[in-house]
Amino acid sequence: MSCTRIEVAGLPRWLRWRRLLGGGAWQLEDEEGDLGGRRRFVAELSRTEAAAVATRLRGLAFDGQAIIVTCQPSLPRSAVRQARLHEARLRRDGSLGFARRGAWLDEEARYSLTPEVLAYRIGRLARRADVVDAACGAGGNAIGFARAGCRVLAIERDRERAEMARHNLRLYGVQHRVRVRCGDALEHVARLSVPLVFVDPPWGREYDPERVTVDDLPLLRDLLEQVPANAAVWAKVPSSFDTRGCPARVLACFGAGSGDRRRVKFLLLRFPPRGRT
Ligand SMILES: C[S@@+](CC[C@H](N)C(=O)[O-])C[C@H]1O[C@@H](n2cnc3c(N)ncnc32)[C@H](O)[C@@H]1O
Repeated sequence: MSCTRIEVAGLPRWLRWRRLLGGGAWQLEDEEGDLGGRRRFVAELSRTEAAAVATRLRGLAFDGQAIIVTCQPSLPRSAVRQARLHEARLRRDGSLGFARRGAWLDEEARYSLTPEVLAYRIGRLARRADVVDAACGAGGNAIGFARAGCRVLAIERDRERAEMARHNLRLYGVQHRVRVRCGDALEHVARLSVPLVFVDPPWGREYDPERVTVDDLPLLRDLLEQVPANAAVWAKVPSSFDTRGCPARVLACFGAGSGDRRRVKFLLLRFPPRGRT
């Protein structure tokens, strides 16, 4: 079988590249130099494998820089078409939103829901801390935190969505761990005393897939200024969030379903307490 030399450039150091690129004898070609600390990897793969990697990484950007994939010789159209079909099938198999039947969601809540498996993983990272979920939507993350043993104050500005969150918490049997408050998080957060504030700010459907900054996410920006100085902030942001020059550390999150195990669905950032920066 003929081999394709595939080169992937522009991967940031914080990324768990093996999980994104998958199997194969990848070699790190360039650590610093022209790419400003970004990494370039090269591998010899079968045409089908190379087309799968190229398709999966299409349109992905980190820290304001697109990932660049080059194949030598270039891939035939038939291989690319097949890989895209396969990828579309895999995406349909991605991690489920709520796995239980009977959850209440409106269109916006469905679109922005953190898949149940990932919400639970994030919850476990919190190690049973008390958490404020500052924009809980229909409760995806609040449920994840509660199932992982945290006590949660979940705030949601939209009255109907707050009601959905209450219903969904009951569906998962965790209503005793979560208090849902309908209101503007920005009016409450400064007065709260908790070690951890989680926020999944609205990204907007038109967010820039190449570069998003804290100013593009006003709820996150304003919360960062208002949270008590001793609280850490965890934020769920698009993969194109530019982490350069920002005090946050990336706890990268990948998908969990068979279809999105190797995709970056979003980043989980940790902003340290302001009192400690
Ligand atoms: C991305 S969704 C959250 C989804 C949630 N993490 C989940 O997995 O179900 C963001 C939510 O923030 C709410 N929101 C926006 N600004 C807010 C504010 N200032 N205070 C409270 N909620 C806010 C929106 O109404 C929306 O439901």
